[in-house]
Amino acid sequence: MKTAPLLRAESPRTQLMRRDTAEILTRLFYLERSLIISQAGWLPAVERLDTKAALARMLWEDAVAADGLRNRVFELRYPSRVIAPDQHQRAIGLFDAVRDAPGQEAFLLGMARVLLPSLGAAYAAYQQLSDRLSDGPSALLLKHALADKRAQIVDLEQLAERLLDLAPASRAEAETWVDALAIRVAAYGESLLASPADDGIMAALPGRRPFTLPVIPGRDDRFVCVRYYWPHIVDPNFPANEGIDLQMRSAIGHLNEVWAAEICAANLYNFADTLGWDFIRDLARWTYDESRHCLMGLERLTEWGFATAALPLGDYIYVATRQQEPLFGLAMIFYFETKYIHRGRERIKTFTAYADHTSRHDYEFDWADETFHAEYGKRWLTVLLKGRSTPPHDLHDLCRHCEALIDEAVAECTPEERQHLRTMAEGLMAQAKARATTEGQPEQ
Ligand SMILES: [Fe+2]
Ligand SMILES: [Fe+2]
Repeated sequence: MKTAPLLRAESPRTQLMRRDTAEILTRLFYLERSLIISQAGWLPAVERLDTKAALARMLWEDAVAADGLRNRVFELRYPSRVIAPDQHQRAIGLFDAVRDAPGQEAFLLGMARVLLPSLGAAYAAYQQLSDRLSDGPSALLLKHALADKRAQIVDLEQLAERLLDLAPASRAEAETWVDALAIRVAAYGESLLASPADDGIMAALPGRRPFTLPVIPGRDDRFVCVRYYWPHIVDPNFPANEGIDLQMRSAIGHLNEVWAAEICAANLYNFADTLGWDFIRDLARWTYDESRHCLMGLERLTEWGFATAALPLGDYIYVATRQQEPLFGLAMIFYFETKYIHRGRERIKTFTAYADHTSRHDYEFDWADETFHAEYGKRWLTVLLKGRSTPPHDLHDLCRHCEALIDEAVAECTPEERQHLRTMAEGLMAQAKARATTEGQPEQ
């Protein structure tokens, strides 16, 4: 049979076909997912507030990248909506190993020096292979993800170095472990896009410490570390409802939303496998939001002239929650979101009336986040409650239980703690009153 002549061209554009592309993007998605879960686990464990905030931001950036990659896989495999880790387990295992770092310094360094550069190199390798024209949407996603990775590497390295300067004794252990991690990643193959060289890369790293979520969160000793962060928690008569008292209580309250970022991260870590990708994406955003609310409080207080060393950071809600089964992590944040949902609008009105533009600004952006947090909680608690055989069985019962847990935690406050809290708050209020001005206030 005679073959009809056809047009042909040797085009470098055809190095990757549609299905190869989808498989590579699948691997990159699962590697980002692994990083998100590792950072969520370590967020409550690390001590410094700047480290917690960086992890919250990075795990959200990674979730944005991962969500884009996952949707792109579905586009390329249309109409199938199947995405599975089966062919990528060894690469994922390589990344999961960072969770078992021997300490916070090793974890941050392992991310900065090994995992993120290797993922960045994989993104760059993919960009070389892919066709910018037919696969333009993937190229854009990867360009943004790569820019995030480069910035994250710089930030994490600086955070790790700061910790190592403060605790030089931990440097040897951290660097030995990071070197072992680097050897393993190098042994994997030319890049993370390759098939792994052998099974040896799955063996446990020397010096590994199996990771568990902390019940007591890491705390930043540059702050006043306490259980209860302001007297109104244990003493309803402490003035906190108007004027400068309200400004201070609100800013200190925002700063102490660190517990909310920590519990959201813990929830992400605890239920990532059970509740799937949409849950991880929602909780990544929720964690980032709460961490921004915490920083809003810190910035306001700093702008008003307060030194970090005078500011209280509490942990009673996180600890009370983590002493329960993981379900209560999600229940507790949902309980607070729904209990105080009306408060944001009240604060915006009040701070507008005070012409306190800074507090008003922060509460307006806070409100924009809070509107969907309660919805996140309701959606995922409903899934967890379905099929549960032991009480509590519904959201109402869960919230009642959370309220009781908080009452118990507050009742544990000792007379000494009460006194310390009052002395600390009165000291801050005296400073606040000394700095207060009538300038810029509306006429009475
Ligand atoms: Fe918040
Ligand atoms: Fe919230």
